[in-house]
Amino acid sequence: MAVVITNIGSLVTNDQSLGLGLLGEINNAAVVIDDGKVAWLGSASDAPAADQSIDAAGQAVIPGFVDSHAHLLFAGDRGKEFEARMNGQKYSAGGIASTVAATRSATDQELEANMRRLVSEMTRSGITTFESKSGYGLTTKDETRALAIGSKFTPETTFLGAHVVPREYAHRPDAYVSLIIDDMIDAVLPHTKWIDVFCDEGAFDVDQSRAILQAGKAKGLRPRIHAHQLGRNGGVQLAVDLDCASADHCTHLDDSDIDALAGSQTVATLVPGAEFSTRAQYPDARRLFDAGVSVAIATDCNPGSSFTTSMPFCISVAIRDMHFSPEQALWASTMGGAKALRRDDIGHLAIGAVADLTILNAPSYLHLGYRPGVDIVSRVIKAGNITYERVA
Ligand code: NIG
Ligand code: FE
Repeated sequence: MAVVITNIGSLVTNDQSLGLGLLGEINNAAVVIDDGKVAWLGSASDAPAADQSIDAAGQAVIPGFVDSHAHLLFAGDRGKEFEARMNGQKYSAGGIASTVAATRSATDQELEANMRRLVSEMTRSGITTFESKSGYGLTTKDETRALAIGSKFTPETTFLGAHVVPREYAHRPDAYVSLIIDDMIDAVLPHTKWIDVFCDEGAFDVDQSRAILQAGKAKGLRPRIHAHQLGRNGGVQLAVDLDCASADHCTHLDDSDIDALAGSQTVATLVPGAEFSTRAQYPDARRLFDAGVSVAIATDCNPGSSFTTSMPFCISVAIRDMHFSPEQALWASTMGGAKALRRDDIGHLAIGAVADLTILNAPSYLHLGYRPGVDIVSRVIKAGNITYERVA
């Protein structure tokens, strides 16, 4: 059954051959969806007939957001840590241990219910594809069950056994690295697409990270990495050397890091929620765009450093404090996220693309930054199905 969304005031396609500017914007547009895919798009006056019609009432339609970095499999709460940081304490990787304890003692049902709640928040914020990592279990059994649960919600699952060294291995970190390489990777394989390492102070160094990512690659997992959140340690160069799909955080970058990224297929994924919630310095996205680096914006939803599921919030902060232009921020949260997941079927709207769209209650995508903190998502469509409809 074909459905036409018509009377779209502004349609963002992210396809410069279809419309104006970086975002390939078409005014007074329509989109036809058939069989979960985009079957036609263009000027509303030329739209073909369809079985059903949705009136966008002159508002804006954008590709669904693609959130390429999130940690949704956990239990417990770290609000007190947030309070301490806002009172002047520094963020450190150490807080992860308290979530590990809570996650290990949660039941499968509790973990699944927590994830379902966060996924539903994401959908209401306009996200149609998201990645989710393990990393709060840190035993073979707990990492495997987290990924088994995560794979019920998304195909973009990531094994992050190398989040931190758990307490029971504090005095023998190399034994933990061996456990990951020799045992955990095989166990998680059936539920996992990606492998990630927190390569930073208090977590894993570059040599350990390289060994873990290479072991995962050898088993068919695809690499991505947390790099340069807390300092510059060579994690970005490692990402490029291993052809990681993305280097995430990139809070601390010098010119050589930017040159390395610019000459690679590795996306720089910026996570405004993390700098916001840890009161860290913001990276300057202009330097990355000027050098020709592909940039994504992700929520990094996690209970420690960035407990937000709102892509519009991240866009507002990215524009205000990371110096994205509004169009760069929209591109980075849709097409940039798709590139960070090495997907070419999502993040843009063209004939044949997956029909993942977000209808705004605003005449332009500009309102995502212009109206910070205001809920302007009115309908979300995933693979042609309405997954969220706002009650007026
Ligand atoms: O992406 N940096 C490492 N991992 C998470 C934070 C984890 C936590 O504090 O629980 C992040 O910010
Ligand atoms: Fe993260």
